[in-house]
Amino acid sequence: MTAHPCVRGDVAVLVPAAGMGVRLGPGAPKALRLLRGEPLLVHAVRRVAAAPSVGCIVVAAPSDAVDDVTALLSPLVARTVTSAPIVASETCGAAEHTLEASSESPLLLVVPGGATRQASVAAALAAVPAEFGIVLVHDAARALTPPELVETVADAVRGGHGAVIPVLPVVDTIKEVDNSGIVVGTVDRSVLRAVQTPQGFRRDVLTSAHAAAVDEHTDDAGMAEKIGVPVHTVPGSEAAMKITRPFDLAIAELLF
Ligand code: CTP
Ligand code: MG
Repeated sequence: MTAHPCVRGDVAVLVPAAGMGVRLGPGAPKALRLLRGEPLLVHAVRRVAAAPSVGCIVVAAPSDAVDDVTALLSPLVARTVTSAPIVASETCGAAEHTLEASSESPLLLVVPGGATRQASVAAALAAVPAEFGIVLVHDAARALTPPELVETVADAVRGGHGAVIPVLPVVDTIKEVDNSGIVVGTVDRSVLRAVQTPQGFRRDVLTSAHAAAVDEHTDDAGMAEKIGVPVHTVPGSEAAMKITRPFDLAIAELLF
């Protein structure tokens, strides 16, 4: 297929950012909480946009904040479209109509997220323009993820893996406990990995995985596993830590 002229890279990155951040405590939705004076989502999108492979970023925003998120992120990219949902074949045309095309920065789309992370990812996936064959899913909550990790994951998908996840070794000893808190056993740590985002997929794999999902999953690779797709691992990054609790935000402030 001939690439559309508005495409800068071959990768679309979905950024679920519609969560409330309950574990972070009272306040704005987590993606809009500040880290060193800027929302987590701005940090995350800035780093994704810096990865040369990325031609399109689709953010799933809190449904009442689509316009605010679009205004927040527009300075980071040259071309922005807000719509819900977007007809893929019209997307690039709309972008060219409203903003000047640029090879230096990816197209940004902002859609309303759903009630769960899975629903938010599905909403973003539905908006990806047809020309992107590689789709990554990246939590806004992993705000300090380096662009190099985006490239590593994209490269592995490009190299032939249908599903790719960044992982780190587990450092704590992990025990299984029963309902009364009594230890049942110690898990062999050497076979365990902590999983991060961005997770990368051939587009048809991610589409099929979401279409087949019946239960809620905490990550997209879990859905790919369910349909029998082998999930390849690449080394993750400590900087791709997920900001979940106030302690994580404090750590991120120091890492910055
Ligand atoms: N997310 C989303 N839509 C939802 C729920 C979560 O897009 N309905 C996104 C979050 O914004 C976040 C990512 O999925 O970037 C990972 O979710 P998590 O860290 O659990 O964030 P929250 O759901 O916001 O946090 P909490 O579970 O503490 O409420
Ligand atoms: Mg959550």
